[in-house]
Amino acid sequence: MRYGANVLHHPARPVTELTPDIDQLLTDMVQTMYAAPGIGLAAPQVGVPLRIFVIDLSIGRDPHGLITMINPEFVERDGMQLEEEGCLSVPGFEATVVRPQRAVVKGLDREWNPVQLEGTGLLARAFQHEMDHLDGTLFVDRLRGIKRDLIVRKIKKLAKAGKW
Ligand code: NI
Repeated sequence: MRYGANVLHHPARPVTELTPDIDQLLTDMVQTMYAAPGIGLAAPQVGVPLRIFVIDLSIGRDPHGLITMINPEFVERDGMQLEEEGCLSVPGFEATVVRPQRAVVKGLDREWNPVQLEGTGLLARAFQHEMDHLDGTLFVDRLRGIKRDLIVRKIKKLAKAGKW
């Protein structure tokens, strides 16, 4: 799903129980993330309006690198970082986005066990980026003024030409 698709611009629903469908969705999401390749993916990006994301900063190289979060919530966020950021749903565009330097997130893992993880730097950025997806927010929405207008205008142009 790309910028403009309805599912990406509305808040996603909590997952109520772990079903075989959810398990299959998680498998598909991890595959999609690795194939892209990307370091994170949220369920709305594959067209499913549920509060699930996966992150793997190693993109599959580290066997312990995969993070699965179902119904995640922020526990703490502090600091600030400014880095270039992109998104699989906004291919071809990057921009500097303000993010917390540190973030603690809690949720459920793939076995429905409670997990709490702390991230700094890139992981904190990924947590915030994927949490934003679950709230219907893309990095483009975090930009202001001319920067945002420029990207939105280019996307509209591509869409009009059937290239989006
Ligand atoms: Ni994204």
